[in-house]
Amino acid sequence: MCGIVGYVGPSGAGEKSVEVLLGGLKRLEYRGYDSAGVAVVDSEGHLDSRKRAGKLQVLVDDLEADPLTDGATGIGHTRWATHGGPTDANAHPHLADDGKLALIHNGIIENFSALKAELLAEGVEFLSETDSEVAAHLVARAYRRTGDLAEALRAVVATLDGAFTLLVVHADQPGVVVGARRNSPLVIGLGDGENFLGSDVAAFVAYTRRAMSVGQDQMVTIRPDSVEVVDFDGNPVETTEFDIDWDASAAEKGGWSSFMAKEISEEPEAVAKTLLGRVADGAVTLHELDGVADRLATIDRVIVIACGTAAYAGILGKYAIEQWARVPVEVELAHEFRYRDPVLDEKTLVVSISQSGETMDTLMAVKYAREQGAQVLSICNTQGSTIPRESDAVIYTHAGPEVAVASTKAFVAQGTALFLLGLHLATLRGTMTSEAIAEQVTDLQAIPEKIERVLESSERISTLAGWMADTRSVLFLGRHVGYPIALEGALKLKELAYIHAEGFAAGELKHGPIALIEPGQIVFVIVPSPRDPRSLHPKVVSNIQEIRARGARVIAIAEEGDAAVLPFADEVLHIPLAAPLFESLLAVVPLHVFGMELAAAKGLDVDQPRNLAKSVTVE
Ligand code: F6R
Repeated sequence: MCGIVGYVGPSGAGEKSVEVLLGGLKRLEYRGYDSAGVAVVDSEGHLDSRKRAGKLQVLVDDLEADPLTDGATGIGHTRWATHGGPTDANAHPHLADDGKLALIHNGIIENFSALKAELLAEGVEFLSETDSEVAAHLVARAYRRTGDLAEALRAVVATLDGAFTLLVVHADQPGVVVGARRNSPLVIGLGDGENFLGSDVAAFVAYTRRAMSVGQDQMVTIRPDSVEVVDFDGNPVETTEFDIDWDASAAEKGGWSSFMAKEISEEPEAVAKTLLGRVADGAVTLHELDGVADRLATIDRVIVIACGTAAYAGILGKYAIEQWARVPVEVELAHEFRYRDPVLDEKTLVVSISQSGETMDTLMAVKYAREQGAQVLSICNTQGSTIPRESDAVIYTHAGPEVAVASTKAFVAQGTALFLLGLHLATLRGTMTSEAIAEQVTDLQAIPEKIERVLESSERISTLAGWMADTRSVLFLGRHVGYPIALEGALKLKELAYIHAEGFAAGELKHGPIALIEPGQIVFVIVPSPRDPRSLHPKVVSNIQEIRARGARVIAIAEEGDAAVLPFADEVLHIPLAAPLFESLLAVVPLHVFGMELAAAKGLDVDQPRNLAKSVTVE
């Protein structure tokens, strides 16, 4: 939560900090949008700053009306409020040292009260209610002592508990931005005569595709021509450069009405790119797992850990891995897993799933699992993020940047990666014949084109959503892989359209939830294929009849040609035929479109729903 950007460029004519910082903040706004602010140091050693409550546009308008003096050095912040409400005063940057030092912060400083009391006793005046302002005054105090910004920040981080990425600039040190990180993200962008810092690579991908991560408990100092990384003890640290495989346009709306509309349209590509280079001649090859192949062959249990939408994708993985690789799989919310003293050993494979690679709950669960001796494999969409660094191996999904706060294309990419992992494990464990694997691979390769076809009928879903703009409650039912899809459909409606929505396993209906059904209640039902050998289809059709008999309005998502649901459903949204497990990747698409369209019909901001941030980097 919170997005941060830092920049140093050439001084002299054409200094462009403000432009770089606002561009970076625009791409990081998904991380929080309660307020935004920038601080700029010019080559004369003047520090100027501006910050405003509200979305970034409020700050942009303000700066247009009353521009800052630009400089070659600057920092920028977009906030998701934790300590103190979303006000101008609580917005970052926070100033200290008589306005000569500016600091931005992502995270939570847990011992801020004690530190603040100390500063108050020394007569320091606070202008905000934030934990971050405490850090600004502490760095200012240390700077007065050391005269060196990096040394001052290093002295301060030794006294802080909690999670933080901090960036600091000082008027006396034009051309320098200093940063430090613990449990919050920070990446470096390497330019030509200019360098960048950001919460993720989206912050600077418009300027450079060369990047380096800053590790846990490390500090970085950027100047126009140099980058220096040290640990919290001041020892130099070796860092490895990587190439960003997103281009700048991928992080732009490109003519779409919203990032979410664009990202849903990219679901076919997200699946196709995640398959790319990993399937050939009817076999699955995951070279990224070569280093852990020996240990993978000996696992006797898999635990999938993730949060929200990523956890629902995890349930798809459970069904696929158990069916194909015959190894027991549990799926657990990362925040529950970590605190329940789970039994883990070296034969446990923990699979963490995270689009951002920064979700704190998932990150902490990953660290915990490794401490307990389990091996951790991560499925992640963001290069340079923390979770892959903390894992034994990583399968990157190649969905491209996901900017809309609610996850869509990442879900289908995560499902695809899990299906690949299931087939890979089945190959290693010899639980499927090569013919059976080849059959699944062929079906999986056909999914992108089938998602395209589902998207072609989006207009019908928009019309339905328009009719339902006043709906107060929607239920979602599914069985087998339809169950996580029901959960995902409900979550999208809650977070995007602020409508009460619940997803249930259809078999659970008669154990309680059917009491919710009253005349007019809208229920989406994900209907499995009538070709399914497990005969789930007739069971779901019976469930539909049970709720119809009690007055529910049923919207069925069913396979093309499924005539059995027609007499009982008020609406049927058809999806192309696919193998039973892969139907999930098709059935979820109309639900993503529905959530987005219903939110739009209610006049809501689909990219930035209230109270949320994309990367949940606090617990
Ligand atoms: C819902 C959504 C969230 C995320 C969850 C995990 O639309 O986006 O539920 O899926 O916060 O985020 P990552 O995948 O970044 O760990």
